[in-house]
Amino acid sequence: MKEEKLQELLHSLTWTEKVGQLVQLSGEFFNTSALTVGPQQKLGISDEILSNVGSVLNVAGAAKTKEIQQTYLEKSRHQIPLLFMADIIYGYRTVFPIPLGLGASWNPDLIEEAYTIIGKESQAGGAHVTFAPMVDLVRDARWGRCLESTGEDSLLNAAYASAMVNGLQKNLDKQEGIASCVKHFAAYGAAEAGREYNTVDMSERRLRQDYLPSYKSAVDAGCKMVMTSFNTYDGVPVTGNEFILKDILREEWGFDGVIISDYAAVRELIDHGIAKDNKEAAYLAMKATNDIDMKSPCYANELQPLLKDGRIDGELINQAVLRVLKLKNELGLFEDPYRGASEAKEKETLLKEDHRALAKKVAAESVVLLKNKNNLLPLNPQADEKILLVGPYGDNQELIGLWAVHGQTSDTVSIKAGLESYLKPENLCVEKGCDMLESYDFLGEFGATKDMIDSLSLSDEEKKTYLESALAAAEKADTIIFAMGEHTMQSGEAGSRTDIRLPQIQREFMKQLIVLNKKTILLSISGRPLVLTEEAETIDAILQVWFPGTEGGHAIADILFGQTNPSGRLSMSFPYSVGQLPIYYNEFKTGRPLTSATHSGRFVSKYLDSPNAPLFPFGYGLSYSDIHYSGLTLSDTKMSEELTISVQIENTSNRACLETVQLYIQDVVGSVVRPIKELKQFKKVQIAEHATVTVAFTLTREELKFYTCSMNYEAENGTFIAFVGPNSTDTQEAAFELV
Ligand code: GLC
Repeated sequence: MKEEKLQELLHSLTWTEKVGQLVQLSGEFFNTSALTVGPQQKLGISDEILSNVGSVLNVAGAAKTKEIQQTYLEKSRHQIPLLFMADIIYGYRTVFPIPLGLGASWNPDLIEEAYTIIGKESQAGGAHVTFAPMVDLVRDARWGRCLESTGEDSLLNAAYASAMVNGLQKNLDKQEGIASCVKHFAAYGAAEAGREYNTVDMSERRLRQDYLPSYKSAVDAGCKMVMTSFNTYDGVPVTGNEFILKDILREEWGFDGVIISDYAAVRELIDHGIAKDNKEAAYLAMKATNDIDMKSPCYANELQPLLKDGRIDGELINQAVLRVLKLKNELGLFEDPYRGASEAKEKETLLKEDHRALAKKVAAESVVLLKNKNNLLPLNPQADEKILLVGPYGDNQELIGLWAVHGQTSDTVSIKAGLESYLKPENLCVEKGCDMLESYDFLGEFGATKDMIDSLSLSDEEKKTYLESALAAAEKADTIIFAMGEHTMQSGEAGSRTDIRLPQIQREFMKQLIVLNKKTILLSISGRPLVLTEEAETIDAILQVWFPGTEGGHAIADILFGQTNPSGRLSMSFPYSVGQLPIYYNEFKTGRPLTSATHSGRFVSKYLDSPNAPLFPFGYGLSYSDIHYSGLTLSDTKMSEELTISVQIENTSNRACLETVQLYIQDVVGSVVRPIKELKQFKKVQIAEHATVTVAFTLTREELKFYTCSMNYEAENGTFIAFVGPNSTDTQEAAFELV
């Protein structure tokens, strides 16, 4: 439809029809037989509004979306199609690794390919918008939603944000993509104490320097929607925060797309204590230019009374409705309310072989080799060695993580299946060994009944049998592969935890096998950095595999047996202990740094009972190759606009590898304190066996800008240090003067 027609359509609507467009309800309100059933009475939403609702939350599937759309339009006076929006975070039916794993690939181009497939499958499945990418910067592994983030660095997160938006939206006009809704704007990942939905409070400088770049990158990449975050910023919940939504997002960044609240976040302005009732909540959110109220009655029931009271201008509502109509129009819904989705297209698109192949490639590039004592890995599948695969994740298809709501674990390749594709049956023994968790009671919060919970736990008899069987198998094995990790439901939304070691039952079980002095490998399955300090002491080789997705088992086997040389690098620090959190590589020096020249012993910034450094730092990861950095060279010792920084990297092994070369800088003196290191560029380069490559970076003045003491975004002349290396710790350095 032509834009001017939209204005006509807008002005043809009643206020009830307009307000309906600004309300989003979940699937249970749209019973496919009729529109007027479902728990709207819980929200107290009238039938008039319900029959004019503008969008649907988390319904997908071509048949179901078509039926709801058809039923809705048959009864609709205004004939404005519904928008179907869903959480398709890292895969629709073909599920990729969780974003914290994608973050470890340091390969935005590959991630863009993955999200192109996610867009295709989602469109075929009837989704119009996805609430992705989640680009919240994270520094605290206690927070369950680390799972959905690409990590602790704003530059790396920004690179992934644009790659994901581009992937999802590049085929929009070919009806093979979907609209992207970046979230959670803003700084949700800074929840105090890593506790879900907790307060966020920080300086504007930290907000702009560290937390905003990834959202800005998504907006600059053209994401169609932005979702508000549950948290406060500077004492005002974002969903009602004019500074964040209006001043920054709309006016400074020029975003004129749709802003949608997070789930019930408009009404939660009451719980925050910033609104006394639904009416005040609706007032604050509308004034902040939040367009759609997700799953709360505030807009539905209070916008028209606010209009009548003269407290809000009708133009505010009109602008919000127009943004929603423009999005529907951009997606071609007026011409085709089904956007080309069909059961036939769904059948031919979902889980295609080439989609699975890419999922395997991405999963393999996301795995991080954390330890490889005596080069135990890769294993030789032809060697006549007995391998025991043991642990709750060995023969288990639950590898897609919490936020893969449209994926099916039955599609997933288990680790057992992956190993079986390499090993003769007589050389592989698979034992459960121990239970996943000591107790499953916490699942009650997710609706699990007592019977379901009891059925999950192993009886004492079963535990004894599993242990004895595993011990017997371990005696006969040459190598033990532990497939261990946190439960799917222990990360993701509302998954904050204070003890982030492997579950105790698993740690105790492993100890009983480690004493057998076999070669040991740990596969760590998790949605967050776990504290692996104990395992780093006792296990020979450790692979961090995240929740690796539909092709997880194949990707892990390819790495274990050397078909793929691991290239993953951590995008989030792995702490030595939970007491260190939040921990991140780009911290400030402080007045008494650990390596202080003026203070020594006790009186420096440190703990009495833990190192300052993480167990495994940002950017860290090993490969099967022997890589040596040398010859760091600057094109000059003075830089005005540009400086070239180069390094030689030699691969002395007979195995080619993908090496992620990282360039960091330190601004030694600034008008505000500056981080000890900041990632500025990275290059993932192929290095053939016995080859040496030169990698050069061209650093620009623009990259040295920051929010100065006067909050100007500029570079300040003075001394800088350039660091180059395979991670944020093991670097070569050289100083230069910015003039
Ligand atoms: C949830 C999440 C958000 C999700 C939304 C819709 O509470 O915070 O990430 O997109 O609700 O399901």
